[in-house]
Amino acid sequence: MKILVTGAGGLLGSAVVSEGGRRGHDMHPFQRQTLDVTDKVAVSAAVAECAPGTVIHCAAYTNVDLAESERDVAVAVNRDGTENVARAAASAGALMVYISTDFVFDGRSERPYTPDDPPNPINHYGRSKLAGEEVVRQAGGAWTIVRGGWFYGEGGRDFVDVILERARAGRPLRVVDDQVGVPSWTGSVAPALLDLIEKSATGVLHLCDRGEVTRVDWARAALTLAGVDLEVEPVSSEAFAAPAERPAYSVLNGEAAEAILGRAMAEWSESLRTYLEAA
Ligand SMILES: NC(=O)c1ccc[n+]([C@@H]2O[C@H](COP(=O)([O-])OP(=O)(O)OC[C@H]3O[C@@H](n4cnc5c(N)ncnc54)[C@H](OP(=O)(O)O)[C@@H]3O)[C@@H](O)[C@H]2O)c1
Repeated sequence: MKILVTGAGGLLGSAVVSEGGRRGHDMHPFQRQTLDVTDKVAVSAAVAECAPGTVIHCAAYTNVDLAESERDVAVAVNRDGTENVARAAASAGALMVYISTDFVFDGRSERPYTPDDPPNPINHYGRSKLAGEEVVRQAGGAWTIVRGGWFYGEGGRDFVDVILERARAGRPLRVVDDQVGVPSWTGSVAPALLDLIEKSATGVLHLCDRGEVTRVDWARAALTLAGVDLEVEPVSSEAFAAPAERPAYSVLNGEAAEAILGRAMAEWSESLRTYLEAA
């Protein structure tokens, strides 16, 4: 399968490119330096020249806090850039796979969000990603919207890296105890994403590891598995006072994706163990 990947230098994009290569797909990775998705002409030319069967759009403005003060930039990348990619994919007759986020939800649910639950983002990053979903639906081609959340893995600098770096530097750790989600290893998400594409899945799907945990207990689990003995101070989101509000509960229900995959995703704690044992 010929697959073009945007944001190929990012956390998920790099895992997708590696996994696709391992499977023998004809991978065409584009990093920001080689393809800025806000450049409509360049996107159109790159997709037309490559003529892929599938475009996996991993490029995004992902700084949730900075998005509050850089709203125009977040929209330019996450909505307008996505529209450029989706339209180019439609013109090429390629399946557009858009990676979206648990942050399209408001976090007030008391059970994991299904793909049919109504989005209601509470921060600007979430609003810009939801706007991206809308342009994908309207671009005129075949599409799959795959929502995930709390990614970590090889490459990039994620929450697990930050926690371990700070702990090893002997810096005190304060982590919020009132946000619940599903940590999802790119080493399990990327293979599942390619499985879904190989099975021609379309529509909106949630793809994540299994279970749920507070952010502070995720940090504690990472420290324990890494053999670092350090207390983590639990704090409320209000006391932490990050610029962007986060959903209190952003657990995704991945059953629809699992039904297509014909298998269960791994428990988040097992994925974290596998990842840290190999590190
Ligand atoms: N990380 C998470 O927990 C999480 C959760 C849910 C959904 N997602 C979604 O998953 C997808 C992949 O995110 P990720 O975690 O891999 O984040 P990431 O590591 O920040 O990767 C995003 C990539 O997009 C690139 N990019 C930014 N602006 C661009 C532009 N104008 N043109 C081309 N490339 C651009 C970035 O390049 P630079 O590094 O040079 O800026 C980066 O390499 C995104 O759609 C994100 O919204 C992520």
